[in-house]
Amino acid sequence: MERSVSEKIQKIKQKMGDSLTILAHHYQRDEIVQHADFVGDSLELARKISSLNARYIIMCGVYFMAESSAILAKEDQKVFIPVAEAGCTLADLAPGEMVEIVLQRLNQERKIIPIAYVNTSAKVKAICAKFGGSVCTSANSTTMLKWAITQGDGVLFLPDKNLGINTARSIGIDEQKVCDMSDKIFEQDYVLYLWPGLCDVHLGFRTEHIINMRKSHPKAKIIVHPECPPEIVEVSDEWGSTSKIINYIDQIDTGSEVIVGTEINLVNRLKNIHYPDKIIYPLSNSKCKYMEMIGEKQLLTLLENLEKQDPVYIDPETKKLAKLAINRMLDICAK
Ligand code: 13P
Ligand code: SF4
Repeated sequence: MERSVSEKIQKIKQKMGDSLTILAHHYQRDEIVQHADFVGDSLELARKISSLNARYIIMCGVYFMAESSAILAKEDQKVFIPVAEAGCTLADLAPGEMVEIVLQRLNQERKIIPIAYVNTSAKVKAICAKFGGSVCTSANSTTMLKWAITQGDGVLFLPDKNLGINTARSIGIDEQKVCDMSDKIFEQDYVLYLWPGLCDVHLGFRTEHIINMRKSHPKAKIIVHPECPPEIVEVSDEWGSTSKIINYIDQIDTGSEVIVGTEINLVNRLKNIHYPDKIIYPLSNSKCKYMEMIGEKQLLTLLENLEKQDPVYIDPETKKLAKLAINRMLDICAK
């Protein structure tokens, strides 16, 4: 009898044993998550790499996550992604050349420290290292922004404007000192410059959704991801990374109601598989089309052709600098 795709994946995993590790981001589909050795948010996935000894690491997530894994992996490890075209809107909105030009201009008379959300290319991470900056994830953006502010005259936060505003508000940065990149950024001194990038998945959450959900479920708490617009975060009860959202749901009592504003694959899994004893409502059905590109078929094709596939490649100079930027974050957040 012909084996199913799932069985074929399991068979290869068994055969490869410790030489293979499959990582997956929380937004991956259930059919992928079931095969993962470790599932996490961007920070947890980055932290995990140094503890892995597998020769082959497969990142089921988007391309910047595979790049981060390749940056942090050991020399003899190879990192693969089942679909190299699985990009990220935010990463695409911050081309390296443009980031470098803006940083050069901003740094003519002042010292402006860049903090790049990990949803950026390896090249952008490398540029941030060159300018004395680092990276952050949605789980540590407050720590990293606080750190960056002490390192110079101001900070360029990129590419997610919403994460930048939400983080700045949470640490009380005076909004008069925040400059949207569409303003006259080179004419006045600001403390925080925000790159105009946005994630279309989280832009899909609107104030009407909150109003309607609050009306129909008055007892429910609302938790959202910080890539959501500030007006959504402001009227929610909590905000945080995908892992913080999971921990929040884990902690609430059985039977409690919670409305969750993040990617639908994760919300549905929490609702149907992990916490059927809690009442979970999606704020809306926003789906990440890039995460969605990876399914069991793509994973199997990669596994069956691993030796013939090109691992994720980053040129040595970019890799060295990008690693410096990521390690700065890991060190600062380990303190
Ligand atoms: P987390 O780091 O919170 O998992 O978020 C990654 C991401 O891309 C959210 O859109
Ligand atoms: Fe990028 Fe948005 Fe998808 Fe996250 S949800 S990977 S930020 S496009």
